[in-house]
Amino acid sequence: MSHQPDSLASPAEWENLRALAVAMATEAGQMAIADRTDALSLVDTKSSIADIVTAADKAAEEHIRSRLASARPDDAIVGEEGSNRDGTSGFTWFLDPIDGTTNFFYDLPGWVVSIAVSDANGFGASAVFDPVADEMYSAHRNGGATLNDSSLSVRTSTPSLAQSLVATGFSYDSDRRRSQAQLLVELLPQVRDIRRLGSAAKDLCLLAKGAYDAYYELGLNSWDLAAGWLIAVEAGARVEFLTAEGVQPALLLGAAPNLFDELAEIIT
Ligand code: IPD
Ligand code: CA
Repeated sequence: MSHQPDSLASPAEWENLRALAVAMATEAGQMAIADRTDALSLVDTKSSIADIVTAADKAAEEHIRSRLASARPDDAIVGEEGSNRDGTSGFTWFLDPIDGTTNFFYDLPGWVVSIAVSDANGFGASAVFDPVADEMYSAHRNGGATLNDSSLSVRTSTPSLAQSLVATGFSYDSDRRRSQAQLLVELLPQVRDIRRLGSAAKDLCLLAKGAYDAYYELGLNSWDLAAGWLIAVEAGARVEFLTAEGVQPALLLGAAPNLFDELAEIIT
């Protein structure tokens, strides 16, 4: 075993876990596309009336959960649709079977399957699959990030915040949305423009690809951010929580390293 003592897996093992995440994300994404029309007859809401869940979200998570039950029976799971499970191995999987459910519901592009696995040192392997665009983003720790077969790098040529394209997202909670809107009033005049795609996982992948200069959002869940966080970091982005540890809701910022501090200053 050549891996660092504080990492649960060797580089080759993380690469295998990345391949497993890629395979499961592909299957779940293909299922969701195929089942979309039927799935829309079974729609419910969760934390608020804005927060939709469809039968496809549940079926895709169930598919991934059952794959993990046979391939990785000792690992823990944290899933958006509730397939949580304790583990004994030290590995934890974070599942967002459809990140961007509102886009899925309205038949808009910009929804993905997001899967990551962590150990005590953080996220070690992940995959984000966009079945509409046929884009597979993936990464493993110190192994780089790819989109299909091409390696990903964050944009480093944007010289200032005033010339930067910044993405964000909004919570389902109306009070939190009010403060998110107030922050936008402050930020929008200071940047080139703002984007709101509707999938945190894809937002982080677009940061990794250099399609955005930065992305921030308050109050994400672990399953929203896990896979994209690793992909963005492996592509050279700086990704951190700006709120103190344990303070909720956490504010996530991912950015090209040269823009991070200036943007952090404005949004905190
Ligand atoms: C949501 C999306 C959205 C973000 C929300 C998330 P969901 O996840 O990632 O972009 O702004 O905070 O909850 O509900 O589509 O899985
Ligand atoms: Ca999500």
